[in-house]
Amino acid sequence: MDPLQWAIDPWGKVVPIHIAWFLIWVAAIAGLLFVIVHAIYVRYFAKPRQFGPYEAPVIPAQIPEHVPRHSLTARAFHWIMAAAMFTLLFTAFLPKIGFQFDWVTYHWIAGTVLTISIIFHIIHASFFLDFWSIWPDKIDLRDAWRRTHRFMGKPAPPPERFAKYPLENKLYHGAIIAAGLTAIITGVFMMSRVRTIFFPRNPYLFTDMTWGMMYVLHGLAGVGLIMLIMVHVYFGIRPEKRPITKSMIFGWMSRDFYLEEHDPQRWVVEPSATAAAKSAGTPGQD
Ligand code: HEM
Repeated sequence: MDPLQWAIDPWGKVVPIHIAWFLIWVAAIAGLLFVIVHAIYVRYFAKPRQFGPYEAPVIPAQIPEHVPRHSLTARAFHWIMAAAMFTLLFTAFLPKIGFQFDWVTYHWIAGTVLTISIIFHIIHASFFLDFWSIWPDKIDLRDAWRRTHRFMGKPAPPPERFAKYPLENKLYHGAIIAAGLTAIITGVFMMSRVRTIFFPRNPYLFTDMTWGMMYVLHGLAGVGLIMLIMVHVYFGIRPEKRPITKSMIFGWMSRDFYLEEHDPQRWVVEPSATAAAKSAGTPGQD
């Protein structure tokens, strides 16, 4: 079973033209298998999560009842990107599995929305958010080691509570960057093969071989995203992750959840208005 489709160019050379579309099913089934195996593992085998003690004493009353997690701008970006991503997946793959419609226009429009939203996100995250909060740090790596040891039944100290994002979320973000940027960069070039409002159509920009590889890369990133998005949605609706999903809607998570999973030293939040007022000697407002 060849994962690529091939054709012969005008000079008689064999060139790749697309991925083979059965890879759509491979990705969907792999995503589904991951979900099933993970759900069974958590339900029947996983031990309750354990964290080490806080490094420094924590005074819960100093933490606001609603811990701010995502600004309105960050949430708007997330949901615009999600809408563009789903539109891209459905417009790309439904026609390949038998639901024919005129998909290309919807696809490049959603692609443009995704591209602009990602450019915005890169600027926003680099200059207005805490850029380093989404990249693994030393404690994450040390704790991954500890968690792996404990998973295999070997003695190791419990991991610390998370910073703003758990390691799993950081790794997922890295995978999305790889697949997303590949789809975007190849997609922007591929727009010159179809009629758009941006630039004149020019299918001769690259050789047939380069175009073929570009379509293959775009397709591979696309099927990779099928898996990644399935896994993302699955975690988003899992009961123990719902406080995180809710924070992407309302912008905050509860103090209890924050204290249960996060380390106030690794993810510092502004003290609550009541605590700040008390330490300033003025009556506080709840
Ligand atoms: C979730 C992200 C995306 C997925 C799953 C996806 C998937 C696909 C697939 C499977 C194809 C057919 C490729 C082929 O025939 O070999 C395609 C074509 C195309 N995509 Fe995407 N794509 C994504 C993102 C983008 C983005 C961000 C852009 C633009 C910036 C874009 C623009 C295009 C264009 C112009 C075509 C070419 C249509 C043609 O030549 O007929 N795509 N896409």
